[in-house]
Amino acid sequence: MKPVRKAIFPVAGLGTRFLPATKTIPKEMLPIVDKPLIEYAVDEARAAGIEEFIFVTSRGKSAIEDHFDSNPELELTLQGRGKEAELAAVNATQLEPGQITAVRQMAPLGLGHAVWCARNLIGDEPFAVLLADDLIMSDRPTLVEMVEAYEEHGGSVVSLMEVPREQTSRYGVVDPGVINGHLVEIRGLVEKPDPAAAPSNLAIVGRYILQPEVMTYLGRGETGAGNEIQLTDSMLELVGQSPFHGLILNGRRFDCGSKVGFLEAGIGFGLRRADIRDDLRISITELLSNSGD
Ligand code: G1P
Repeated sequence: MKPVRKAIFPVAGLGTRFLPATKTIPKEMLPIVDKPLIEYAVDEARAAGIEEFIFVTSRGKSAIEDHFDSNPELELTLQGRGKEAELAAVNATQLEPGQITAVRQMAPLGLGHAVWCARNLIGDEPFAVLLADDLIMSDRPTLVEMVEAYEEHGGSVVSLMEVPREQTSRYGVVDPGVINGHLVEIRGLVEKPDPAAAPSNLAIVGRYILQPEVMTYLGRGETGAGNEIQLTDSMLELVGQSPFHGLILNGRRFDCGSKVGFLEAGIGFGLRRADIRDDLRISITELLSNSGD
């Protein structure tokens, strides 16, 4: 069984929901507390043993690559001023030489198309996909647990969460077979089904480990829900060919693609930070007591 060494980060989106903030700044660079959204996903991938980080970008998104590069001028300045904690935080963002690659998605044709844009870099290895918008708060990084499931069962693994039935049309939804604890055998998948047609209320969270054959199916360029090339539709082709499992999320997922989800994440992660937790609690209480003004 081949190890999962490569990860794709689709980051080409325009971030229209966050305009005007995203007019010149990639959405993925907006911070949750003091770390850009994309860094949480990259850190999760690093924890899971990923060695090659592939960003599927678009015009105006080079800040993402720069963030994981070195910044000698800043590093020297921080060093000169004795700002050791800040220097450590900046150094921690750096990936090793040769670990970052960026490919362009030239047109917004869907998540499946974004993943397919990285096909030449993936070759014939299994790979992970991480959607930075799905920010996960958990004791153990989700992709670490998924890699463990992959090492045990092989094939493909996606992260799953239960959603209210009326929300199935926002997600990819799976048709579950045998459920064993957190591990769900997957018999089928459908992108954004109406609640009445949804095979379950188990929705896909933006974490995937996939077999490279999925690229062949994506290459057909067939469109699905929302007239986009959907990753879910090509994943369905893998079902039956090799093992396909879902792992029910052991944590909380924040939808940072929405304004409320983004704010929730800032508060949630802030409340976990020893340096600001107490002040933040006081502020929240005070703001809530005055929110009727
Ligand atoms: C994408 C996937 C969907 C998945 C979701 C998770 O949808 O297509 O299957 O459930 O991410 O966030 P999007 O949010 O891009 O519409």
